[in-house]
This record gives sequence, C-alpha cells and structure tokens, in this order.
Amino acid sequence: MNKLITDIGNSIEAATRFVKGYIISIGSVTNIFSAIENNIQTVDDIAEEYGYRNKRLLKLYLDILCSYSILKKENSKYFLVDGVNIRLEKRDFMLDKMKEDLISFFMSLINVFPHLLIDPNNPLATTDFERDANIWSIWLENDWFKSVRWAITEIGRIGKRDYILDMGSGSVSPLYFAEIVGENGRVTGLDKSKKMVEIARTKIENRGYSWVEIEHCDIENDVGLDEEYDIVILSMVLEYVHNMEKVIENAYNALKDGGRLIIFKMPDNPIINFTEALIPQFVKLRTTREIKEVLTKVIVKEYGDLLIVAHKY
Ligand SMILES: C[S@@+](CC[C@H](N)C(=O)[O-])C[C@H]1O[C@@H](n2cnc3c(N)ncnc32)[C@H](O)[C@@H]1O
Repeated sequence: MNKLITDIGNSIEAATRFVKGYIISIGSVTNIFSAIENNIQTVDDIAEEYGYRNKRLLKLYLDILCSYSILKKENSKYFLVDGVNIRLEKRDFMLDKMKEDLISFFMSLINVFPHLLIDPNNPLATTDFERDANIWSIWLENDWFKSVRWAITEIGRIGKRDYILDMGSGSVSPLYFAEIVGENGRVTGLDKSKKMVEIARTKIENRGYSWVEIEHCDIENDVGLDEEYDIVILSMVLEYVHNMEKVIENAYNALKDGGRLIIFKMPDNPIINFTEALIPQFVKLRTTREIKEVLTKVIVKEYGDLLIVAHKY
C-alpha cells in the first residue's frame, strides 16, 4: 500500500488512542461519573439532573464508554465497572507517527461536547459547516488535511490539465487541486454550505485562479454535470449524506470514460464516531464494504480502510 496512506492511517490510529483518555475524562467535567456514582443512572435522569437537552448525544457518549468497558448497562441503567482509570500507554505517544494537528483538530471537536449536551443548537459548539464555515476553513488548511489531498493526488495520478470535480469540496481543497492541474486544467467544487462557497470564491478571486469555480449545490440532488471530468473526488463527505447511492450516481455520471472516482473516508471506530457526532451534519460513518456495494460498473481498488479508487470503463 502507498506509504502516504499508511502514514495517514497510522496518524489516525495514534490520534484516536491519544484522545481516548480525554474523551473519558470529559465524563468528569460534565458530572456524568458523579451522577452515576450517586445512583442517577439512566439517560433521562442524568439529562434532567444537569439540564442536558441533547439526550441522543448523552446516550451515544454513555454507550461509547460501555464499548471501552468503563461503564456497563443493565436495564437502561449505567454502572461504573471499575472506577475511571485513565491509563495512557507508551504507544499512545507515538508522536513520530502522527500529525499533532489531527490531535488538536479532534480536541477542538471534543471540546464542544459539554455545550452540545446542553443544547444541540448551542452557538458555542462551533462545528457547523454553515454557521462555522470560518473555523472550518482554518481547520481544513491543517497539514493533516493537506496530507490527505497529497495522497489523493498521488494515488489518483492527478496532474497538469486534468479536469477535476470536487464534491463536498469545502473552501480549501479546490485551491489545492487548482495548483496541481494548472491553468490549462479545470476544477469545479460543489458544496452545500453557502458560507463555505463564499469563502472559497473570495480565495479564488484573490489568487486569480480563473480555472476554478465553486457552485452552491447539494450533491444528493441532480447536479446536472455530464461526462466532463477526468477525476471526481469525494473526500470526507460521504459521512454527511443520507443518500449515498445518489451521490455516487452523480459522481459516476460526471466522469469521462476511463475517468477515476477517488473516495477518501474516515475509518469506522468508536472514537471517530464520537468526534464526528459532534458535527451537526454528521449522518454515519461508511464502511469500505458498504461503499463498494454501491460502486457498480467500475473497477475498484482499495487502500486500507481509507481510500477507494474506482475506474470507469
Ligand atoms: C469535512 S468537510 C471536507 C471538505 C473537503 N472535501 C476536504 O477534504 O477538504 C465536508 C464538506 O462537505 C460538505 N457537504 C456535506 N454534505 C453535503 C452535500 N449534501 N452536498 C454538498 N456538500 C456537502 C460540507 O458543507 C463541508 O464543506
């Protein structure tokens, strides 16, 4: 497997191990452990005790602690198994194998947890692709996200003059690919967040990249782009859509014969699931197998549980 993808996988693994202790400790600051110790043990009772209106998130958190055997659940009551013992092992500090910014990105998401528990629409929880597009535009510039784009470029063999469709592009990625394809190529970015589109357009204008355009568009609807592109990219977006079949059909229709669809996604594990659930648009993590079932009429190559390349023929 490509070394870059192995490094990206290792950095995700190391970062999730690192933040696991922090996620557990947040049960203290939100008084969840002391509630359980004081026999306030159901989702409803804990929610009522502290005014946590987001019971869905509270339940998700408690269930994640169960999956790590910190809690156990019997008849909708939660019990502490063995006290809260947060032990970080030496391998949790494999700093050489991770990008520090992935840890701090995860921490930025996890920090909104208490605010989101109080209210699912709490403006202090700054993770919404629309309302908080400004902070997303900073996070998406982080080195870890850049390394994903680099891996997509290498594995997708993206080069000068290519025509690229970036679906769920955000405000940073189209500019990255614009530099790779150069002024004789073309990049079209599609994004559902109006503010993300606005930020991307300002950047494009400032840099004078006339070969890039960003459209405000929901990729779960008909996008009306037919057979134009050498490469279609779906990077870190399938976890936010309900109708994955429609998105992949749109991607397929936009590809020229011989074109390549490149899908990057986060692996399916409890820590990633928890951090993603702190983003309002999150639907669910997708497994490689689930995606492959939708990828008919193409030749598929997969790179670990992270990247899938599908060739249209
Ligand atoms: C985590 S960001 C990833 C951005 C970009 N692909 C990257 O790798 O830098 C996810 C983006 O997908 C967009 N998105 C989510 N659902 C969408 C949909 N149904 N249609 C279009 N864009 C969508 C969000 O607005 C957000 O900008």
